[in-house]
Amino acid sequence: MNMSNVMEKFSMVGSVAVVTGAAGLLGQQFSRTLAQAGAKVLVADLNGDAAQAQADSIRAEGLSAVACRVNVTDPQSTKAMVKKTIDLFGRLDVLVNSAALDPKFDPQNRSAQSANTFENYPLQAWRDTLDVNLTGMFLVSQAAVTPMLVQERGVIVNISSIYGLVGPDQGIYSILGEREKFKPVDYSVTKAGVLGLTRYLAAYYAGKNIRVNALTPGGVYNEHDEGFVKNYSARAVMGRMAEIDEMNGAMLFLASNASSYMTGANLIVDGGWTAW
Ligand SMILES: NC(=O)c1ccc[n+]([C@@H]2O[C@H](COP(=O)([O-])OP(=O)(O)OC[C@H]3O[C@@H](n4cnc5c(N)ncnc54)[C@H](O)[C@@H]3O)[C@@H](O)[C@H]2O)c1
Repeated sequence: MNMSNVMEKFSMVGSVAVVTGAAGLLGQQFSRTLAQAGAKVLVADLNGDAAQAQADSIRAEGLSAVACRVNVTDPQSTKAMVKKTIDLFGRLDVLVNSAALDPKFDPQNRSAQSANTFENYPLQAWRDTLDVNLTGMFLVSQAAVTPMLVQERGVIVNISSIYGLVGPDQGIYSILGEREKFKPVDYSVTKAGVLGLTRYLAAYYAGKNIRVNALTPGGVYNEHDEGFVKNYSARAVMGRMAEIDEMNGAMLFLASNASSYMTGANLIVDGGWTAW
């Protein structure tokens, strides 16, 4: 009989984790959660100052974190990030691919989306999003598996979205002030691609003790307009948006030994958004 302790399986003590997009809304949550579970965390983001602030804030809790500026679209930068991890901590056990261009509809980002339509959506915007959300995830994963193969151990968690599973109902964005906002095509396409990349890598590294899974969050509340929250919430079985910390348990589950028999899977944490 296996007498293992389930709580120990969630422990990240002795592990080294890299989180990309770690200065973002969820990236901050993920990097802090891994540190709280005992990992040494490389807090990596294009915004180097914000990454530094996040690493400082984690360290202020007495936990282990180092900041790193990275551009996930640049192979030299992603290789340098992995080298820095190995130089500092000697290994790389967990990669959380959270960096993305993710058009937000909260008040701070109200101007982020203009009244585009699919018909006139700019080619450059499409290319930029594919570059960060898919090519970036490809490049970071490519760099990170090199030490994982040497260690014969590794875990990758790729962050997708409900819009990788279902098409956006643009109607829920139409109440945000004077100009109509919308969720662009490149976001849906790249988040669906993340699921394909996840299954490809899981299958490719069969027998190598490298597990690759996706986490699919639903919309996370960040002081959005009341109208948006109402529209969004009506489409979720649970009748509300996610709280900012409600992805952490699922992320830690996928990153830790608690999910040791999972690979190539997608864990959906969306309050039932895609259930009906
Ligand atoms: N917030 C949500 O409601 C929500 C819902 C579903 C899925 N997601 C997904 O979760 C993940 C994290 O979301 P978030 O809310 O933290 O996003 P965010 O926009 O707050 O943060 C993304 C981070 O990625 C960084 N980034 C952008 N381009 C980069 C590059 N080239 N190199 C390195 N870093 C770069 C940004 O600087 C930013 O800190 C994303 O993949 C997103 O698509 C978020």
